[in-house]
Amino acid sequence: MAAGADTGFSTRQVHAGAATAQASPRATPIYLTAGFTFSDLDESVAHFGEGTGFGYSRTGNPTVHAVEERLASLEGGDQAVLVSSGQAAVTVALLALAGAGDHVVVSEHIYEGTRGLLLDNLARLGVETTFVETDDLDAWRAAITPRTRALFAETLSNARNDVLDVAAVAAIGAAQGIPLVVDSTFTTPYLLRPIEHGAAVVVHSASKFLAGQGAVLGGVIVDDGRFDAAASGHRFAHLVQTDRLGGASYAEKYGARARGQYIRESVAPRFGPSPSPLNAFLIGQGIETLSLRVERQSQNALAVARWLEQRPEVERVDYIGLDSHPHHGLGERYLTRGFGSVFTVTLRGGLEAARHVVQSVEVITHMTHLGDVRSLVLHPQSTSHAARTVAERERAGVFPGTIRLSIGIEDIDDLLADLEQALVRVPVLERETVVL
Ligand SMILES: Cc1ncc(COP(=O)(O)O)c(C=O)c1O
Repeated sequence: MAAGADTGFSTRQVHAGAATAQASPRATPIYLTAGFTFSDLDESVAHFGEGTGFGYSRTGNPTVHAVEERLASLEGGDQAVLVSSGQAAVTVALLALAGAGDHVVVSEHIYEGTRGLLLDNLARLGVETTFVETDDLDAWRAAITPRTRALFAETLSNARNDVLDVAAVAAIGAAQGIPLVVDSTFTTPYLLRPIEHGAAVVVHSASKFLAGQGAVLGGVIVDDGRFDAAASGHRFAHLVQTDRLGGASYAEKYGARARGQYIRESVAPRFGPSPSPLNAFLIGQGIETLSLRVERQSQNALAVARWLEQRPEVERVDYIGLDSHPHHGLGERYLTRGFGSVFTVTLRGGLEAARHVVQSVEVITHMTHLGDVRSLVLHPQSTSHAARTVAERERAGVFPGTIRLSIGIEDIDDLLADLEQALVRVPVLERETVVL
């Protein structure tokens, strides 16, 4: 950059020292910049024409790109697009598939924010949703209409810890050219790689296990790169017809990568939930210890769940790692490295018992979040599920005495001691069903 001693003060304050020193950092550098310089006109033409290199951070950034490559690799996908939150990831994935007049089939047991997105925001844009029970394969099949553009479910659900039979539901969709989109936030690519079982698109809230330390928000959409224009083109005109802006269709340009490229080039940058390069850096750092954390969290969670199941104050524990969970067999089939760290416990003493526990724990933190290195607790009935009817809450496994735990990496003895001191003073009333 030209900022010699002969240039003025104002020029030097924005240009002097700007040339980067040649160095080879081992950690991914944080490219905290809105845009990138072009060395000549040809480079700028190639960037705008063929999409080569980096021009502007909303359409691409090296720090963000490094995390995308890492996540695509860990998921066994073709490409990943990082966005600013998990909510943005779900939104972008669905907007890439469905538009006004279209329809999606969705598991009943999903994150409340996603439910609101479907019932309010996407409904207002003309996308209709049919909800089905996660394990009712006939219901998935029956709900499909000629306008269905996606099947959507969480791999492991909050609050009941239901496991999605990814292969079975993916096959139902594939038979009619409809992609299965899964939110794999609770399972992470360490526990489950849904694309290997037939899912087409995987989304995550990277704010949770991927970042892992509760400092930043982020989300990711991973595409399998297996778009089949012959089988699915009739459902996705925007991928197989001439681009609305006048160019060749995405399928012509990118073949099996058409859907992923549409997410990357059209939906994500135009709706614009771009991740900050700083957040991307922290997510990338977090992912470097993902396997260690999730392995330890799964071990701790299983130990806590087994311990809680034996306690007289406890009515039920909905943890997929326990033999008592109705989906345990399915869980063992899909989750061979551990059962994750988030589950619910219902106390016999109802709301007062739950209030006592969330207010008495000292090692475990009372807050709304999950997948953190620290153990966390929340009372869903009065918080995340407060707007639902009693019948809906019960179907979701949320009762007045239910608390949700997200188990961290602390020493297991300290977690059990903390729960013990909270439980011994819990008011043990009649059974939960009586105090409702
Ligand atoms: C399963 C699941 N998906 C998506 C989200 C939304 O993610 P974010 O909070 O990063 O927007 C959450 C948040 O709790 C979640 O639990």
